[in-house]
Parts: sequence; C-alpha cells; structure tokens
Amino acid sequence: MQKSLLILTGHSKGLGRAILDTYLKKDEFEIVGISRTILGLEDSKLSEISIDFGDLDVLENKLSDLFPAGDFKEVILINNAGWIGEIKAVGSLQVRMMRENVNINLLAPMYLTNAFVAAYKDLDAKKIICNISSGAASKPMEGWSKYCSTKAAIAMFTKVAAKENTNSQFRFFSVAPGIVDTEMQHEIRLADGLDFPEIERFKTYKENGDLSTPESVAAKISYLLQNENEFKEVIQDVRDFDLP
Ligand SMILES: NC(=O)c1ccc[n+]([C@@H]2O[C@H](COP(=O)([O-])OP(=O)(O)OC[C@H]3O[C@@H](n4cnc5c(N)ncnc54)[C@H](OP(=O)(O)O)[C@@H]3O)[C@@H](O)[C@H]2O)c1
Repeated sequence: MQKSLLILTGHSKGLGRAILDTYLKKDEFEIVGISRTILGLEDSKLSEISIDFGDLDVLENKLSDLFPAGDFKEVILINNAGWIGEIKAVGSLQVRMMRENVNINLLAPMYLTNAFVAAYKDLDAKKIICNISSGAASKPMEGWSKYCSTKAAIAMFTKVAAKENTNSQFRFFSVAPGIVDTEMQHEIRLADGLDFPEIERFKTYKENGDLSTPESVAAKISYLLQNENEFKEVIQDVRDFDLP
C-alpha cells in the first residue's frame, strides 16, 4: 500500500489530539506529531518530536529532520499548535510573552510551511497545508491583541502561499475551527473580566453546552482535507459546512 504522511503540530491535546486520533484510524497514514509533550502512545504509525515553539532556535535547527522522504501518495501539514497568550490590553503586555506568542502562533507555522513546500516541491503527490487560524483573525477582541493579530497574519501568509502555488499540486487552507471545548477555552474563562470584557459570553457558551467537541471539529477537518476539491477558497470555517 502506498503511504500517506501527516505532520501535525499541537498533537498532544485539545483539537490536535482529536485530529491525531482521527488519522491514527487511517491505516495508510504515517504521522509525525510535534508538541512539547510526548504522549508515548504504542502505535508504530506515530513518531513524536518534542519542540517548544516558544524558542525558534530549536525549531530552526530541527527543521531539516522533520520531513521524511518517501514515495508518499499524499503529504499533509497541519499547523495546529497555538496559544491564546496573556490576555491583557495593549500597554500592559510583557515583551517576552509577546515574542513567545508570535513565535508559537505565527513564526513556527511560517517556518514549517516554508520548509514543507521546499521538502516536497518535487514530489508527485497530493500536497496540502492546513494552518489553523481563528474567527478572531477577523474580529478584534479586547485583551486578545496578540492572538487576533497572529491569527490574521497566518491567514494572510497562507493566502499568499496559495496564490504563489496556483499552478502546483499544493493546496493551502487557513481554517477557523469554531469555538472548541479544549484547555484553551478553559484558559480564556480564567481571564480577568477587566482585561477581557467579553468573558461572560465565553462562560455562557460553556454553561449552555454551545462549544464544539474536538472530535466533531477533527472530523470536519479530515473531511475537508480528503475532499479538498469541494473547497475552493483558502479561508475556511468549519461552521460553514456540515458533514454529508
Ligand atoms: N479552542 C478554541 O475554541 C479555538 C478557537 C479558534 C482557534 N483555535 C485554534 O485551534 C488550535 C488548537 O487549539 P486548542 O483549543 O486545541 O488548544 P489547546 O488545547 O491549548 O492545545 C494546544 C496544542 O498546542 C501545543 N502547543 C502549545 N504551546 C506550544 C509550544 N510552545 N510549543 C509547541 N507546541 C505547543 C500544545 O502542546 P504542548 O502543551 O504539549 O506543547 C497542544 O497540543 C490553536 O491553533 C488555536 O489557536 C482554537
């Protein structure tokens, strides 16, 4: 059987863990999972690499080792790792945390997208880059300046890469996953209401059971990546389509 390859960041929990579980069920996939945490799952299809994207020197030094060569019929990169960061107004942000937030949400997926395209440009295969963005990319939220701006920037980076590759086998998507019941949402609900005036809305989502499960969102992302020709635009929001 000709193999497929998935490189997935932020595989250790939340949405990434649900995406990992979805692809572990697909026999043809080899998976490289990259997070700080190693899960240690007993599954020969998964290789795990621990990298802290807060420190880009480490990622830069390991970049050339992350993209295995092979006669793959399909290669997919999902840049899913992300961090809401410190929820504070501009003027009260800590410089070190600003740098870390930009490293994790923007520069790490930019490095990985660039290296993925370089590694697989000559491979005759289906090739997809899926950068997980957010509705916050186009909606300013008080206290979320770093998160909103890094998510907007990765969406634009993805659109430019797509434009450059109109006549190639690469497809690029920037996908908003909706509001998903993960640790990130828990972190958001712990913010100070003075820094984050919309906090009550987010608490109500949880109380009312309005959050999507990571599994349901992972199923939609998997559908999108398997049926990429049904999705013409680079910018996608999983809330805009239902599974057949
Ligand atoms: N949850 C939502 O409502 C929501 C809404 C819109 C967009 N998103 C986006 O969806 C993606 C997944 O979010 P989630 O809700 O699943 O978040 P999560 O539960 O907090 O998981 C984040 C993942 O990113 C990894 N990660 C975080 N910091 C990292 C670092 N410094 N280096 C390497 N890996 C790191 C984590 O692994 P380790 O801790 O093991 O490193 C974890 O696997 C993110 O890009 C997020 O911005 C989420």
